[in-house]
Amino acid sequence: MADNLDRVRDHYRAAGLAERLKTALAVFGPEEERLKPEQLATLDQFHTRGLAATAELAKLADITADMSVLDVGSGVGGPARFLAAAYGCEVTGVDLSEPFVEAANYLTARTGQAAKVSFKTGSALALPFDDGGFDVVLLQHVAMNIADRPLLYREIRRMLKPGGKFAAFDVVLNGGDPLYPVPWAKTPAESFLLTAAATCEAIEAAGFRVLVQQDDTADAKTWFAALRASGPPPSLNLGVVMGPGFADFAANLGRNLMEGRLGVLTAVFEAVPVKS
Ligand SMILES: C[S@@+](CC[C@H](N)C(=O)[O-])C[C@H]1O[C@@H](n2cnc3c(N)ncnc32)[C@H](O)[C@@H]1O
Repeated sequence: MADNLDRVRDHYRAAGLAERLKTALAVFGPEEERLKPEQLATLDQFHTRGLAATAELAKLADITADMSVLDVGSGVGGPARFLAAAYGCEVTGVDLSEPFVEAANYLTARTGQAAKVSFKTGSALALPFDDGGFDVVLLQHVAMNIADRPLLYREIRRMLKPGGKFAAFDVVLNGGDPLYPVPWAKTPAESFLLTAAATCEAIEAAGFRVLVQQDDTADAKTWFAALRASGPPPSLNLGVVMGPGFADFAANLGRNLMEGRLGVLTAVFEAVPVKS
């Protein structure tokens, strides 16, 4: 069950990311021009169905302005900026990848949201925060990189206030061996997939009760089919973050879904007292 954090970190190393972002964002005008969070949506929502998926998950988690939200595996910060803009809540992101955290802070400065949104480098398996500080924890397309699910979900449970919510959006095993590379892993050595049922079981065992469980696979397939039909991507896409090979990684995820190898799970849980 050893987590291969160095390999995962390497996968998301993204050398020179901040400079690449500066260059790519020149399409919006000079550096001092304030950007709207939604202008970044084609490159800062690093998961299936992009901004729509984040918006739906936030709605299911009943986020409100007075809440404090933790985004675990926050990537370059798109979900965190969206939540702060849409709900007025405070959002903290934590991510293993230093270049991603640097990029997330840079993009947040560009959208003028630094008072509400912040990011820290750290591992989901040893979250660098005190117990019980958050109302909601978000985990979008991160669990696939983590072998030690019991520890991951215990750490998330530790972050939550009593009755707090955990909103998860994950790629899951669905009945076949996945083809690699995929967006979260170049090889199976960085990929630790579970079925939807095993994912929910591991979450519940960490002290959660399921509130919502949805199979998002059909919507994900529709999204990939529309993407394929829409021709070349916009200039601001996740290739800016992950490099030119990213289109092939994403195409493989689409194929894995279409061929029934992988699926997508949306689920929201409530923290309950942990059984001793
Ligand atoms: C596919 S991206 C998703 C990013 C973000 N959640 C989003 O949806 O835009 C996966 C992210 O998880 C992070 N990650 C993977 N394993 C992690 C770990 N053990 N601790 C913290 N972050 C991790 C990666 O660095 C990467 O930023």
